[in-house]
Amino acid sequence: MKTKIMAIALALALALGIGGIATGVEASDVKSLRPTEANQADAAPSIYKVVEGVRHERAYRQQPPLVPHPTDKYEIDVKVNQCLRCHEWPYADQEKAPKISDLHYIDRSGVRQDTVNGNRYFCKQCHVPQNDAKPLVENKFQPATLNTNLR
Ligand code: HEC
Ligand code: HEC
Repeated sequence: MKTKIMAIALALALALGIGGIATGVEASDVKSLRPTEANQADAAPSIYKVVEGVRHERAYRQQPPLVPHPTDKYEIDVKVNQCLRCHEWPYADQEKAPKISDLHYIDRSGVRQDTVNGNRYFCKQCHVPQNDAKPLVENKFQPATLNTNLR
């Protein structure tokens, strides 16, 4: 008896469902849950700009300096390192770019090498540009001062 009722209910549901398809639902009837309409493209998110031409102050003494120019076009891989094209001697003088410091040539055993050492080869591991984006959360960050107690 129970199964019979269920079978009738199922048949009814199917019939109604098919009925729904038969009448057809217009695209314009669909109400989107998003703030924009379902058939409208969302506006592209704004693109942040790299803050250029500013010498970013370091927040603490040992900080790798921030990059004052965009870096996305410069290839860094096993064969090429375009950052070095401007930042290594002798190109640095020609390009009027700051030369990488001697610490970039010291290997993990403390031995000074003649070429940039592997542990400083991937520049963007340590040096990053800054975007004009607002901080994601409010914060009270203050750079470390020259207080000798901090060293
Ligand atoms: C076309 C030449 C050129 C290339 C390529 C280049 N830079 Fe620079 N870079 C400069 C110049 C010129 C400055 C100095 C800009 C200034 O003082 O406003 C600079 C500044 C910097 C500084 C700031 C140094 C300091 O003491 O404040 C860092 C860090 C830096 N670049 C990292 C990089 C990295 C990492 C790459 C590769 C992704 C790169 N640069 C590629 C020309 C270049
Ligand atoms: C492991 C982190 C690290 C990597 C990788 C690294 N650097 Fe640095 N870089 C530093 C630190 C820390 C300083 C500041 C202290 C110093 O002079 O070494 C610095 C300083 C610099 C400076 C400023 C030098 C000066 O005298 O003002 C430049 C330019 C620079 N790096 C470019 C590069 C480039 C180009 C690469 C890639 C070939 C690179 N760095 C890779 C950590 C790094």
